Amino acid sequence: MSDSVAFEAVDPHLRGRFGKPYRFEPECESTQLLLLGSGLPEGAVAVADHQTAGRGRLGRNWAAPSATSVLVSVMLHPPAEQHLPELSLVAALATAEAVEGATGLTAQIKWPNDVMLNRRKVAGILSEVSDGAVVVGIGVNVNQTREQLPLDAPTPAASLLTLTGSAHDRAAFLGSLLFRLERIYDGWRHGGLADLYGELGARDFLRGRRITVDGEAATALQILRDGRLEVETEDGEVRAIESGEVRFER
Ligand code: BTN
Repeated sequence: MSDSVAFEAVDPHLRGRFGKPYRFEPECESTQLLLLGSGLPEGAVAVADHQTAGRGRLGRNWAAPSATSVLVSVMLHPPAEQHLPELSLVAALATAEAVEGATGLTAQIKWPNDVMLNRRKVAGILSEVSDGAVVVGIGVNVNQTREQLPLDAPTPAASLLTLTGSAHDRAAFLGSLLFRLERIYDGWRHGGLADLYGELGARDFLRGRRITVDGEAATALQILRDGRLEVETEDGEVRAIESGEVRFER
């Protein structure tokens, strides 16, 4: 198995608009920085083998040993009237499908941006906006060994390797991910989240779980059709949340 995500290795796996133009760096600060403010067209991607300052949600960092994971940022130019926070769910659904295609296991989405396999996080999404464009960054734990995964992550981490016992072709995985993202994004552009809701709802990891939202205890009810998370707090109040740090009971 070739283990490169340079353009020559990924090109045979590119089947749509997304992935062009394609920029690969063996090492960079963050693939997000290669696209933010770049003015590149929709579908442009930046890919790296290693990030020295990989960005996670809520100001966290995202780290992985070189050439073990898929680190990709994708440039999107969504219509101004669409609800941009929904894009993290769009990307999470595409990533969940790509993970399922590679492993044969059922992946779930932990609202708002994590992809879970066997109750462990295998991928995270970070959406950043600049000048009306959205750069969606996706980090997927593909071939890390158990020892190479973070021990102190708020959500326990796994890789496709640790869960299936075999290494995965990162170039083929990336091609599949970009193709699925393009198809699901196009669906969202035309029909909004309602069009994807069946697929999303079926993979709702938090549904029915005891959680804390920014430290407050609650029960997660469901991802709503507008992308918010419906929760019931300890005193019986049902409310929808837009964003926040959600932890679940193990
Ligand atoms: C999270 O779960 O906190 C989001 C992680 C997002 C990581 C990806 S890796 C590719 C892109 N470049 C970055 O610096 N971050 C995103």
